[in-house]
Amino acid sequence: MKRFYLKTMGCQMNDHDSEVITGLLLSQGYVATDQVEDADLILYNTCCVRENPERKVYGHISAFRKLKEQNPQLVIGICGCMTQQKQELEKILLQLPHVDLIFGTHNIHRLPELLERAQNGERVVEVWEEGQYEEGQDFRDGLPVQRSHGLKAFVNVIYGCTNFCTYCIVPYVRGREHSRLPERILEDITSLAAEGYKEVTLLGQNVNAYGKDLSVDTSFSTLLREVNTIDGLARIRFTTSHPRDMGDDLISALADLDKVCEHLHLPVQAGSNTLLRRMNRGYTREYYLSLVEKVRKAVPGISLTTDLIVGFPGETDQDFRETLSLVQEVEFDSAFTFIYSPREGTPAARLPDQIPEELKKERIYELIELQNSISGKQMQKLVGTTQEVLIEGKSQDGIIGRTRTNRQVHLTGSEDLIGSLQEVEITEASTWSLQGRIL
Ligand code: SAH
Ligand code: SF4
Ligand code: F3S
Repeated sequence: MKRFYLKTMGCQMNDHDSEVITGLLLSQGYVATDQVEDADLILYNTCCVRENPERKVYGHISAFRKLKEQNPQLVIGICGCMTQQKQELEKILLQLPHVDLIFGTHNIHRLPELLERAQNGERVVEVWEEGQYEEGQDFRDGLPVQRSHGLKAFVNVIYGCTNFCTYCIVPYVRGREHSRLPERILEDITSLAAEGYKEVTLLGQNVNAYGKDLSVDTSFSTLLREVNTIDGLARIRFTTSHPRDMGDDLISALADLDKVCEHLHLPVQAGSNTLLRRMNRGYTREYYLSLVEKVRKAVPGISLTTDLIVGFPGETDQDFRETLSLVQEVEFDSAFTFIYSPREGTPAARLPDQIPEELKKERIYELIELQNSISGKQMQKLVGTTQEVLIEGKSQDGIIGRTRTNRQVHLTGSEDLIGSLQEVEITEASTWSLQGRIL
């Protein structure tokens, strides 16, 4: 029996691709292991959105050289976004000579054949520049999927990105936007619900662009309305929404549809109009703030989360203060904060006035401190309220679930409740999680 060790980095697109990779490997007779030492195949599904995770890949994989010396049959593979960058691919080939198998984000379905060739001693490198698909289709359609959770499932609705934010590498490594046909998505979710899944997260780099590339007349809000009718399903989430494409129809869908959860991840990135323009985000601070107001009015109590970048080239102290003041003004429930990382091939990497590392760090600490205090305050507001909680699993000393607003709640109760929806009174709050009592 052959064993594989799969490491996944990056965003939910990669998490889901890894579920497909796992499905393919299981269908080839492999079994999973979490011990690299036991593996016949070590595979890294990589992310290149920032430099740090890339560096980790070189560190980890260099360390596997010894394993390869001990076991020449071992296959070491790298796939995912990193391999789609030409200069990075060359660097991998040169600096990691013991890597046997490399494929990209557009040809995961080729894994069984490529793996067999690698097992026979060939160094296999196959990266496609673009995906090959007909309208509404993708190579992932119909591939086996081994899901990592029994209650919650990721479902792709749109692949790729053509927004070209000036800092971002994703459009270069994931290809142009292409939506899946609505009937395919609905079919998938109907079978998931029949298998007992309670929650789906609809995935895309910009779900709000869903349908624009299809000749059928549809949109993301229409899709949500259709998914909402599927029996057995309790919760619908989606990520990520681009503020520029967030229309009134989507806000109404959030407000009207009972299964669509009251949580919106709406990356703002920066608070100053100068930076937003240079990032090519396509909206202003004022537009973003009015959007937040509209969403909160339509969906009271909605949880709002965001992504923020500090240290974008040319960011002045004043620009940074405007990010802080926006964060202060909106009071996000939580935020992912990132230090700008220049990505080769993107326009921002070529801009003058790159910000020194020290200053970027100072700024991110200040931002994190501010956001943490706001997150803590938002959590405290929930103490004493009643929330619908989906019980998702065991914790060390009880059970654990999530509110519709995607906050984790620790509870005492029997494991038999896993998979059920419970009314819960929130009794305690910390910055990151809640304690509650089942009513
Ligand atoms: N498509 C999604 C998220 C893509 S990547 C969106 O548009 O929101 C997730 C986050 O990584 C981005 O929102 C951004 O905040 C951050 N990011 C992307 N490129 C980056 C870079 N070069 N340096 C630092 N952070 C970056
Ligand atoms: Fe990157 Fe912008 Fe596309 Fe998001 S919308 S993936 S930040 S280019
Ligand atoms: Fe990273 Fe690729 Fe996602 S670069 S953020 S894993 S699309």
